[in-house]
Amino acid sequence: MSSENFSVTDCERCPALCASRSRIVNGTGPADADVLFVGEAPGANEDERGEPFVGRSGDVLDEALLEAGLDRETVRITNCVRCRPPDNRDPTGEELSNCREYLEAEIAAVDPAVVVTLGKVPSEHMLGRDVAVTKEAGDLTDVRIAGEPRRVLVSVHPAATLYDRSQRGTFDETLAAAADLAGVETGGGGQSRLGEF
Ligand code: URA
Repeated sequence: MSSENFSVTDCERCPALCASRSRIVNGTGPADADVLFVGEAPGANEDERGEPFVGRSGDVLDEALLEAGLDRETVRITNCVRCRPPDNRDPTGEELSNCREYLEAEIAAVDPAVVVTLGKVPSEHMLGRDVAVTKEAGDLTDVRIAGEPRRVLVSVHPAATLYDRSQRGTFDETLAAAADLAGVETGGGGQSRLGEF
C-alpha cells in the first residue's frame, strides 16, 4: 500500500477475488476530503475501469452529489472490498476482514468529517451490527474505527433508488445531511433537510 494515496497494488489475500478481478479498484477523490463514501465492492464497470461507482449506481451517486452541492471531485469514494466478487455476489466475512486494513488506513489518512455508508454491507461493516438500511437511512452514529472517533451516516445504496424510486428522496436527504456535516453550503441556508444533527 502506498502511504501517499493509500492505494493497494499487489494484494493476494483473497484467492476467489484474485481469480475474478481484472484489477484492484482503489478509492478515488481528494486525500483530505470532508466526506468519504463507502460502498460494498466493485461491480463489472468498476472492475473494467478501475474506479469505484462508475456504472449506473455511479450515475445516480453523481446526480445526487450535485443536488446536495457536492461533486465527485470533492469527495472520497471507496469500497469495503477492492476486488470484484465473482457473479457480483456479496463479499464474504473473510474477504471483508482481509480488506478492512486498507479501508481503515484510507479513513485514517483522509480523516473525513463524515463517513457515508452506501447500503447494508458497508453500514453493517462500519457499525459492527445488523442495520435495517431503509429504516436507518439518515441516522448518524458516533463510532470508533481503528481506535479513532468517526461519524457514520447510514445511506441507502444508490442502486436501490433504481429499483424503488421512493428511496430517491431518502438518498437525496442523506447526502444533503452529509454536505451539512461537512460544512458545505447546500443553498438551503446551510440547514439539513433531515433537520438538526
Ligand atoms: N456498488 C458498490 O457498492 N460499489 C461500487 O464501486 C459500485 C457499485
